[in-house]
Amino acid sequence: MEPQSSVLKKFSLHNRSIVITGAGRGLGLSFARALAELGANIIAIDVHDKPDEEFHDLLSYGVKTVYYKCDVRDPATLKATIGEAANKFGSINGCIAAAAIMTDKPFMEHTVDDMNASFAVNVNGMLSTVQICAEHMIKQKSGGTVICISSTAGHKAVFPQTATAYVCSKHAVLGLVRQAAAELAQHNIRVNSISPGPFLTKMLRSVIAGDPALEEYFSEGNAMKRLAVPEELDGAVGYLMSDASSFVTGNNFNIDGGSGCH
Ligand SMILES: NC(=O)c1ccc[n+]([C@@H]2O[C@H](COP(=O)([O-])OP(=O)(O)OC[C@H]3O[C@@H](n4cnc5c(N)ncnc54)[C@H](O)[C@@H]3O)[C@@H](O)[C@H]2O)c1
Repeated sequence: MEPQSSVLKKFSLHNRSIVITGAGRGLGLSFARALAELGANIIAIDVHDKPDEEFHDLLSYGVKTVYYKCDVRDPATLKATIGEAANKFGSINGCIAAAAIMTDKPFMEHTVDDMNASFAVNVNGMLSTVQICAEHMIKQKSGGTVICISSTAGHKAVFPQTATAYVCSKHAVLGLVRQAAAELAQHNIRVNSISPGPFLTKMLRSVIAGDPALEEYFSEGNAMKRLAVPEELDGAVGYLMSDASSFVTGNNFNIDGGSGCH
Protein backbone atom coordinates (compact mmCIF):
# COMPACT_ATOMS: atom_id res chain seq x y z
CA MET A 1 0.00 0.00 0.00
CA GLU A 2 1.31 3.46 -0.94
CA PRO A 3 1.80 5.68 2.09
CA GLN A 4 -0.30 8.87 1.92
CA SER A 5 2.66 10.99 2.95
CA SER A 6 6.19 10.40 4.14
CA VAL A 7 6.60 10.03 7.90
CA LEU A 8 9.91 11.86 7.84
CA LYS A 9 8.39 14.83 5.98
CA LYS A 10 5.95 15.31 8.85
CA PHE A 11 8.90 16.15 11.10
CA SER A 12 10.20 18.87 8.80
CA LEU A 13 10.19 22.40 10.22
CA HIS A 14 11.46 24.13 7.09
CA ASN A 15 10.29 27.75 6.79
CA ARG A 16 8.88 27.78 10.32
CA SER A 17 10.07 30.41 12.75
CA ILE A 18 10.11 29.38 16.37
CA VAL A 19 10.47 31.51 19.50
CA ILE A 20 12.35 29.85 22.36
CA THR A 21 12.64 31.56 25.75
CA GLY A 22 15.49 30.57 28.05
CA ALA A 23 17.43 29.71 24.87
CA GLY A 24 20.72 31.28 25.95
CA ARG A 25 21.92 28.05 27.52
CA GLY A 26 20.84 24.67 28.89
CA LEU A 27 17.74 22.88 27.64
CA GLY A 28 16.43 25.95 25.77
CA LEU A 29 19.62 26.11 23.69
CA SER A 30 19.48 22.36 23.15
CA PHE A 31 15.87 22.70 21.88
CA ALA A 32 17.11 25.40 19.46
CA ARG A 33 19.75 23.00 18.09
CA ALA A 34 17.24 20.16 17.63
CA LEU A 35 14.67 22.38 15.88
CA ALA A 36 17.32 24.07 13.68
CA GLU A 37 18.42 20.61 12.54
CA LEU A 38 14.79 19.99 11.48
CA GLY A 39 14.94 23.22 9.45
CA ALA A 40 13.38 25.84 11.75
CA ASN A 41 14.48 29.45 12.01
CA ILE A 42 15.27 30.20 15.65
CA ILE A 43 14.28 33.30 17.62
CA ALA A 44 16.13 32.89 20.90
CA ILE A 45 15.23 34.97 23.97
CA ASP A 46 17.04 35.06 27.31
CA VAL A 47 18.00 37.54 30.04
CA HIS A 48 21.73 36.98 29.49
CA ASP A 49 23.67 39.53 27.41
CA LYS A 50 24.93 36.78 25.13
CA PRO A 51 24.04 33.12 24.55
CA ASP A 52 26.51 30.30 25.16
CA GLU A 53 29.02 29.78 22.33
CA GLU A 54 27.11 26.78 20.90
CA PHE A 55 24.33 29.13 19.79
CA HIS A 56 26.49 30.18 16.83
CA ASP A 57 26.70 26.51 15.69
CA LEU A 58 23.01 26.70 14.73
CA LEU A 59 23.98 28.57 11.54
CA SER A 60 25.60 25.37 10.28
CA TYR A 61 22.07 24.01 9.70
CA GLY A 62 21.45 26.71 7.06
CA VAL A 63 18.63 28.34 9.04
CA LYS A 64 18.13 31.93 10.17
CA THR A 65 18.80 32.72 13.83
CA VAL A 66 18.50 35.75 16.05
CA TYR A 67 19.23 36.23 19.75
CA TYR A 68 17.47 38.85 21.88
CA LYS A 69 18.34 39.82 25.42
CA CYS A 70 14.86 40.20 26.91
CA ASP A 71 13.21 39.52 30.25
CA VAL A 72 9.99 37.48 30.00
CA ARG A 73 8.71 39.35 33.09
CA ASP A 74 8.32 42.49 30.97
CA PRO A 75 5.34 41.85 28.64
CA ALA A 76 5.66 45.14 26.72
CA THR A 77 9.31 44.58 25.81
CA LEU A 78 8.64 40.91 25.10
CA LYS A 79 5.83 41.89 22.71
CA ALA A 80 8.04 44.42 20.92
CA THR A 81 10.87 41.88 20.69
CA ILE A 82 8.72 39.09 19.24
CA GLY A 83 7.08 41.64 16.92
CA GLU A 84 10.51 42.67 15.60
CA ALA A 85 11.41 39.00 15.08
CA ALA A 86 8.13 38.39 13.21
CA ASN A 87 8.93 41.30 10.85
CA LYS A 88 12.46 40.01 10.34
CA PHE A 89 11.51 36.36 9.68
CA GLY A 90 8.02 36.87 8.21
CA SER A 91 6.00 34.83 10.72
CA ILE A 92 5.87 33.16 14.12
CA ASN A 93 4.92 29.48 13.76
CA GLY A 94 5.89 27.97 17.08
CA CYS A 95 7.13 28.68 20.54
CA ILE A 96 8.81 26.90 23.41
CA ALA A 97 8.48 28.63 26.79
CA ALA A 98 11.46 27.29 28.74
CA ALA A 99 12.69 30.31 30.75
CA ALA A 100 12.54 29.52 34.46
CA ILE A 101 14.22 30.08 37.79
CA MET A 102 14.50 27.88 40.87
CA THR A 103 14.73 28.95 44.50
CA ASP A 104 16.26 26.50 46.96
CA LYS A 105 14.80 27.11 50.42
CA PRO A 106 12.93 24.97 52.98
CA PHE A 107 9.12 25.11 52.86
CA MET A 108 8.89 26.91 56.23
CA GLU A 109 11.19 29.69 55.03
CA HIS A 110 9.40 30.36 51.75
CA THR A 111 7.95 33.87 51.64
CA VAL A 112 5.23 35.36 49.48
CA ASP A 113 8.01 37.26 47.71
CA ASP A 114 9.76 33.96 46.88
CA MET A 115 6.51 32.62 45.44
CA ASN A 116 5.92 35.80 43.43
CA ALA A 117 9.48 35.79 42.09
CA SER A 118 9.17 32.24 40.75
CA PHE A 119 5.67 32.72 39.40
CA ALA A 120 6.74 35.97 37.69
CA VAL A 121 9.12 34.04 35.42
CA ASN A 122 7.89 30.43 35.39
CA VAL A 123 4.17 31.11 34.99
CA ASN A 124 3.44 34.76 34.19
CA GLY A 125 6.43 35.02 31.81
CA MET A 126 5.18 31.84 30.15
CA LEU A 127 1.64 33.26 29.88
CA SER A 128 2.96 36.40 28.14
CA THR A 129 5.18 34.36 25.80
CA VAL A 130 2.34 32.06 24.74
CA GLN A 131 -0.17 34.92 24.38
CA ILE A 132 2.16 37.07 22.27
CA CYS A 133 3.16 34.18 19.98
CA ALA A 134 -0.47 33.03 19.66
CA GLU A 135 -1.50 36.59 18.72
CA HIS A 136 0.83 36.37 15.71
CA MET A 137 -0.42 32.90 14.76
CA ILE A 138 -4.05 34.06 14.95
CA LYS A 139 -3.32 37.17 12.88
CA GLN A 140 -1.42 35.09 10.31
CA LYS A 141 -4.29 32.50 10.20
CA SER A 142 -1.48 29.95 10.09
CA GLY A 143 -2.11 27.87 13.19
CA GLY A 144 0.94 27.04 15.26
CA THR A 145 2.46 24.93 17.97
CA VAL A 146 3.38 25.76 21.55
CA ILE A 147 5.44 23.72 24.02
CA CYS A 148 5.59 24.77 27.67
CA ILE A 149 8.31 23.30 29.85
CA SER A 150 7.11 21.90 33.15
CA SER A 151 9.12 19.35 35.17
CA THR A 152 8.84 16.17 37.19
CA ALA A 153 8.39 18.82 39.90
CA GLY A 154 5.10 19.72 38.20
CA HIS A 155 3.70 16.34 39.23
CA LYS A 156 5.09 15.67 42.70
CA ALA A 157 7.21 17.04 45.54
CA VAL A 158 10.99 16.99 45.13
CA PHE A 159 12.06 16.23 48.71
CA PRO A 160 14.86 16.16 49.96
CA GLN A 161 15.37 19.02 47.51
CA THR A 162 13.60 22.11 48.88
CA ALA A 163 11.94 24.12 46.12
CA THR A 164 8.35 24.96 47.05
CA ALA A 165 7.97 27.95 44.73
CA TYR A 166 9.44 26.00 41.80
CA VAL A 167 7.23 22.96 42.47
CA CYS A 168 4.08 25.12 42.67
CA SER A 169 4.99 27.03 39.52
CA LYS A 170 5.67 23.85 37.54
CA HIS A 171 2.30 22.41 38.65
CA ALA A 172 0.71 25.66 37.42
CA VAL A 173 2.30 25.19 33.98
CA LEU A 174 0.14 22.08 33.47
CA GLY A 175 -3.03 24.10 34.12
CA LEU A 176 -1.91 26.88 31.81
CA VAL A 177 -1.33 24.34 29.03
CA ARG A 178 -4.74 22.68 29.40
CA GLN A 179 -6.63 25.99 29.39
CA ALA A 180 -4.62 27.47 26.52
CA ALA A 181 -5.07 24.26 24.49
CA ALA A 182 -8.84 24.35 25.04
CA GLU A 183 -9.18 27.99 23.98
CA LEU A 184 -6.66 28.06 21.11
CA ALA A 185 -7.66 24.85 19.28
CA GLN A 186 -10.24 26.88 17.31
CA HIS A 187 -7.26 28.70 15.76
CA ASN A 188 -5.45 25.43 15.02
CA ILE A 189 -2.87 26.26 17.68
CA ARG A 190 -1.74 23.21 19.64
CA VAL A 191 -0.38 23.58 23.17
CA ASN A 192 1.45 20.80 25.05
CA SER A 193 3.95 20.49 27.84
CA ILE A 194 7.08 18.48 28.39
CA SER A 195 8.04 17.49 31.92
CA PRO A 196 11.73 16.64 31.97
CA GLY A 197 13.28 14.55 34.71
CA PRO A 198 16.88 15.33 35.77
CA PHE A 199 18.90 16.66 32.81
CA LEU A 200 22.50 17.71 33.27
CA THR A 201 22.45 21.46 32.62
CA LYS A 202 23.92 24.47 34.43
CA MET A 203 20.70 24.71 36.48
CA LEU A 204 20.94 21.11 37.67
CA ARG A 205 24.71 21.32 38.19
CA SER A 206 24.23 24.34 40.47
CA VAL A 207 21.55 22.49 42.47
CA ILE A 208 23.90 19.49 42.88
CA ALA A 209 26.84 21.79 43.72
CA GLY A 210 24.78 23.15 46.64
CA ASP A 211 24.09 19.63 47.96
CA PRO A 212 26.15 16.83 46.31
CA ALA A 213 23.93 14.15 47.91
CA LEU A 214 21.17 15.24 45.56
CA GLU A 215 22.97 13.69 42.57
CA GLU A 216 22.13 10.23 43.90
CA TYR A 217 18.57 11.33 44.76
CA PHE A 218 18.04 12.52 41.18
CA SER A 219 19.41 9.38 39.53
CA GLU A 220 17.76 6.98 42.00
CA GLY A 221 14.43 8.79 41.47
CA ASN A 222 13.80 7.19 38.08
CA ALA A 223 13.58 3.65 36.76
CA MET A 224 16.61 4.14 34.46
CA LYS A 225 18.69 5.10 37.54
CA ARG A 226 20.61 7.91 35.84
CA LEU A 227 20.69 11.56 34.89
CA ALA A 228 19.92 12.44 31.26
CA VAL A 229 21.69 14.61 28.69
CA PRO A 230 19.80 17.44 26.92
CA GLU A 231 19.87 15.65 23.52
CA GLU A 232 17.49 13.07 24.97
CA LEU A 233 14.71 15.67 24.61
CA ASP A 234 15.31 16.14 20.85
CA GLY A 235 12.70 13.58 19.80
CA ALA A 236 9.97 14.99 22.03
CA VAL A 237 10.42 18.62 20.94
CA GLY A 238 10.72 17.63 17.27
CA TYR A 239 7.55 15.54 17.51
CA LEU A 240 5.48 18.10 19.41
CA MET A 241 6.64 21.06 17.31
CA SER A 242 5.99 19.38 13.95
CA ASP A 243 3.04 18.04 11.96
CA ALA A 244 3.94 14.56 13.24
CA SER A 245 1.83 15.45 16.30
CA SER A 246 -1.02 17.15 14.39
CA PHE A 247 -3.77 15.65 16.63
CA VAL A 248 -1.95 16.15 19.95
CA THR A 249 -2.94 19.06 22.16
CA GLY A 250 -3.53 19.77 25.87
CA ASN A 251 -1.15 16.92 26.72
CA ASN A 252 1.91 16.48 28.87
CA PHE A 253 4.90 14.31 27.98
CA ASN A 254 7.04 13.01 30.83
CA ILE A 255 10.59 12.53 29.56
CA ASP A 256 11.97 11.39 32.85
CA GLY A 257 13.44 7.88 32.71
CA GLY A 258 10.37 6.54 34.49
CA SER A 259 10.08 8.83 37.52
CA GLY A 260 6.42 7.84 37.78
CA CYS A 261 7.38 4.20 38.42
CA HIS A 262 8.29 5.06 42.03
N1 LIG B 1 17.66 20.64 33.89
C1 LIG B 1 16.73 19.88 34.40
O1 LIG B 1 17.01 18.82 34.95
C2 LIG B 1 15.28 20.28 34.30
C3 LIG B 1 14.33 19.37 34.78
C4 LIG B 1 12.98 19.70 34.69
C5 LIG B 1 12.60 20.90 34.11
N2 LIG B 1 13.54 21.75 33.65
C6 LIG B 1 13.08 23.00 33.03
O2 LIG B 1 13.69 23.17 31.76
C7 LIG B 1 13.86 24.58 31.49
C8 LIG B 1 15.32 24.86 31.22
O3 LIG B 1 16.06 24.48 32.37
P1 LIG B 1 17.66 24.41 32.38
O4 LIG B 1 18.05 23.28 33.22
O5 LIG B 1 18.18 24.53 30.99
O6 LIG B 1 17.95 25.72 33.23
P2 LIG B 1 18.91 26.96 32.97
O7 LIG B 1 18.92 27.76 34.21
O8 LIG B 1 20.20 26.46 32.42
O9 LIG B 1 18.12 27.71 31.81
C9 LIG B 1 17.03 28.56 32.09
C10 LIG B 1 17.21 29.77 31.23
O10 LIG B 1 16.13 30.66 31.49
C11 LIG B 1 16.65 31.95 31.49
N3 LIG B 1 15.80 32.89 32.22
C12 LIG B 1 15.61 32.94 33.57
N4 LIG B 1 14.83 33.97 33.90
C13 LIG B 1 14.51 34.59 32.73
C14 LIG B 1 13.73 35.73 32.42
N5 LIG B 1 13.15 36.45 33.39
N6 LIG B 1 13.61 36.09 31.12
C15 LIG B 1 14.22 35.38 30.14
N7 LIG B 1 14.99 34.30 30.38
C16 LIG B 1 15.13 33.91 31.67
C17 LIG B 1 18.00 31.81 32.16
O11 LIG B 1 18.84 32.93 31.90
C18 LIG B 1 18.51 30.52 31.56
O12 LIG B 1 19.28 30.72 30.42
C19 LIG B 1 13.30 25.30 32.73
O13 LIG B 1 11.95 25.60 32.48
C20 LIG B 1 13.40 24.25 33.82
O14 LIG B 1 12.51 24.47 34.85
C21 LIG B 1 14.87 21.47 33.73
